[in-house]
Formats: sequence, structure tokens, C-alpha cells
Amino acid sequence: MRVSIFGLGYVGAVTSGCLWKRGFEVTGVDVQQAKIDNLNHGRPLIVEPGLDPLLSEGAASGRLRATSDVDEAVANSEISLVCVGTPSQVNGALNINFVRTVVQSIAAAVRRKDRRHSLVLRSTMLPGSTRQMVNDYLQPLIDDGILDVCFYPEFLREGTAVADFENPSLVVVGTADGQTLPEAVRDLIVGEPAVTSWETAELIKYGCNAFHALKIGFANEIGRMSRRFGIDGREVMDLLCRDEVLNISRYYMKPGNPFGGSCLPKDVRALVYSARMAGESLPIMENILDSNEVHFQSLVQLVESVRLRDVAILGVSFKANTDDLRESAMVKLAQLLVQNGYRLRIYDPNLDPVKLLGSNKKAADDWMPNLSELLMPDLPAVLGSEGTVVISQKCAPIEVLMDHLTPGHTVIDVNSWPELKQTRANVIGLCW
Ligand SMILES: NC(=O)c1ccc[n+]([C@@H]2O[C@H](COP(=O)([O-])OP(=O)(O)OC[C@H]3O[C@@H](n4cnc5c(N)ncnc54)[C@H](O)[C@@H]3O)[C@@H](O)[C@H]2O)c1
Repeated sequence: MRVSIFGLGYVGAVTSGCLWKRGFEVTGVDVQQAKIDNLNHGRPLIVEPGLDPLLSEGAASGRLRATSDVDEAVANSEISLVCVGTPSQVNGALNINFVRTVVQSIAAAVRRKDRRHSLVLRSTMLPGSTRQMVNDYLQPLIDDGILDVCFYPEFLREGTAVADFENPSLVVVGTADGQTLPEAVRDLIVGEPAVTSWETAELIKYGCNAFHALKIGFANEIGRMSRRFGIDGREVMDLLCRDEVLNISRYYMKPGNPFGGSCLPKDVRALVYSARMAGESLPIMENILDSNEVHFQSLVQLVESVRLRDVAILGVSFKANTDDLRESAMVKLAQLLVQNGYRLRIYDPNLDPVKLLGSNKKAADDWMPNLSELLMPDLPAVLGSEGTVVISQKCAPIEVLMDHLTPGHTVIDVNSWPELKQTRANVIGLCW
């Protein structure tokens, strides 16, 4: 089976590597020549554990390649997956223009090809978006029996995306009648899917992301309250999670970093915006991002309270094992500290500013134009002999920290790294 994958960002890159591994012949399509060249030469597209060998072996096999030519990609595949970005607009609304452009060009290519094709939308979109695409561009092809359309939300998490692809936490596919999965698409899906309407599949993705954001915000608020009472927030949340009957899964239920990344803030914003437009009041949802912002401000206050002008940040991407800087709390913190005259150094072994591409590069350019000056590969030099060290990820060898953290350092442990207590530094937990 041959698939074309439109958009070689985080989702498209992982999907390309994983589907190639599962035996598909994959053609990636992107508008950025650098991504096309990288894929064709088997070079990394993003930082994601386990992905690089898949891409390099795939390119070497000749069964994974990339092009900018939509006609060629559609002609040489039976299924097209759309994984282009759906960013937030300034007012929080969702921008689905990239999806529109791609869907239009795929529709034209399917018409020229004139053989049966499946279109699988994977970009996160609000309920009604797939139907809009169908009404605006696709209905004649469906009526002619040469196109079927599915909405197949992606639930992978950056940092564990390859493993998530192989073992998805949830599999839902929205189809035209809400019941029948097109045969060609069945082979593509990993796991047993719940088949539902397009709209249900679209909303499920927002429901999940809003719930994840809520869990993180909840754990962070309980964590802050704990600290105020001199209690360990980690312990409170850990005990809370032991109740698996009433309190469900423990995932995300740990106090720590304010949430960020390319999905949770954007998707909560879009959900809230669309509810407002529909005249629906969602007081819980409306306050999730405020809660996250208050949590971020508490981190800022903690850094300021240390009263040391030298600050090092270890781990600046939005979470461990990724180079994704989009809506990262540490990026925001870094900029704020620079603006307020702190002397800042950053250590993040996953980040190479020269290799950033696409929306991730844009996030870096917009929010951290000075990233290259602040980022240093030499961990001891980043730590120096004293100052505040904000550690958001376990991205540095603990032995080096043992050797180089001194009593002149105050460490702010953002995400709980208990071994830090064994260093000579004064360690303060964000919520414990
Ligand atoms: N990143 C995640 O962890 C994640 C997880 C689940 C779902 N999603 C959703 O998946 C979608 C993609 O997210 P992402 O993080 O991979 O985005 P991204 O910004 O990293 O990548 C999008 C890619 O699409 C390309 N593109 C834009 N217009 C194009 C066109 N006309 N033709 C071909 N390519 C085009 C861009 O050049 C870019 O390479 C979004 O809707 C996002 O909400 C993301």
C-alpha cells in the first residue's frame, strides 16, 4: 500500500517513519524544501527518540521519500494523510487555512488521477471542519465514487511519539456515515478503532487535550497549595492517584512545569473561542489557560525570590526529549529574565538552533531571537560557580551536576528530580 503524507512536521515526520516501518511505501509532501531534502537524504526532521533510524533506513530503502509535487504524490499513492499545522490565530480562533490549501490541491490531483483515493485528515480541527472541507471541495469526487474521507485524530505525544504510534492510547476514526471504515484505511490504522461521525472524532481530540490541560493545571494548583502549607505536592498527588476507582489515571497528575507545546494551549484556546462564538459558556475551560499563567507567574516569582542575577536554565523546550519550543514556559521565562536584566545561560542538548525548521523555528525567531547566544553546549560553563539554576528536564548527566553544583547555587527543581537533593546546591521544588 502506498501513502502520501502532507506536512512533514512533528506528526507527519513520525507518521512517515512509522508507516514506512510497517511496510507502506511513503511519499512525504511539504512546502519547505529543507524538509524535503532532509527526508530524501535520510537526515533528521525533528528531535524525537527512535525516529532518526526509521527515517534514514526508510530513505536508504527507496520506499520513503519526499517531494513538493502534489500530483505526483497523489498519483503514486492510494491514501493521502493530511498532517499540516492548524495554528492559533491571535484571538484564539483556529486557523485551518493550511488544511484548506492542501485539501484543495489533493482534490484537484485526485480528479486528474481519476482512480479511487482515500483522504485521511489528521490535523486537529474543530467539529464541522471536515464537513466544511467536503462541502467546499470534495463532494463531487465522493459522488463520483472516487474519494472517501476520514478524520483520524492523532494522539501522539512529543518525546514518546514513535512508541505512541505503535501503541496508541486511543484510536478513533470519523467516517462519512459514522459506521463504515473504508477498506484501504483499515490497513493504515494501528489498533482497534472506534468508528464514529466526523464531528465526534473531531471533538474527541479537543476533549482529550482540554482534559490533559485540566489535569496538569489541577496538579499544579494542588502542588502550589501544598507548598504554601509546607506539604510535598508530589506526595499529595501521588496519593490522590492511588485511587484508581474515582480519580482515574495518574498520567499528567504531577505538579511541575506549566503546560505548553504545540497542542494543549492552542487546542484549549480554540475550544473556548468556538464555544464563545456559539454562545456557550464553558467556565472550566475558560480558566484553564489562566490557571497555567498563574502557575507560570509563581515560577517567575520563585526565580526572583532567590535574588541572584546569574540564572541558568537546563531544558528550554516545552518538555523532555524534544526540541519543540512552541509555547514553552521555559522560553517565556528566559525572555522575561533577559528583559529584566538577568545574566542568562541555557543548556539543552536536544536543541540545535541551526537545525530548527518550520513553525518551531518561527517560535524560536519570535520568542527567542537571541537563542544562539544564550545556548551553550558546555554544561559546567552554563552552571558557573554560583547563581540560580532552573532545571525543567533531566537533560544533564547527574554526575556532572554533582560535581559542579556548589553551595553558591540555588536550584529550582521544576519537574521533580529527587537526586538533585544529593548535590551541594540549595534545592527548592516548585510545588514541594
Ligand atoms: N505536535 C504534536 O504533538 C501533535 C499531536 C497531535 C496532533 N497534532 C496536530 O497535528 C497537526 C500538525 O502538527 P505538527 O506539530 O506536526 O505541525 P508542524 O507545524 O510541526 O508541521 C506542519 C507541516 O506542514 C507543512 N505544510 C504547511 N502547508 C503545507 C502544504 N500546503 N503542503 C504540504 N505541507 C505543508 C509545514 O511546512 C510543516 O512542515 C496540527 O493540527 C496539530 O494540532 C500535533
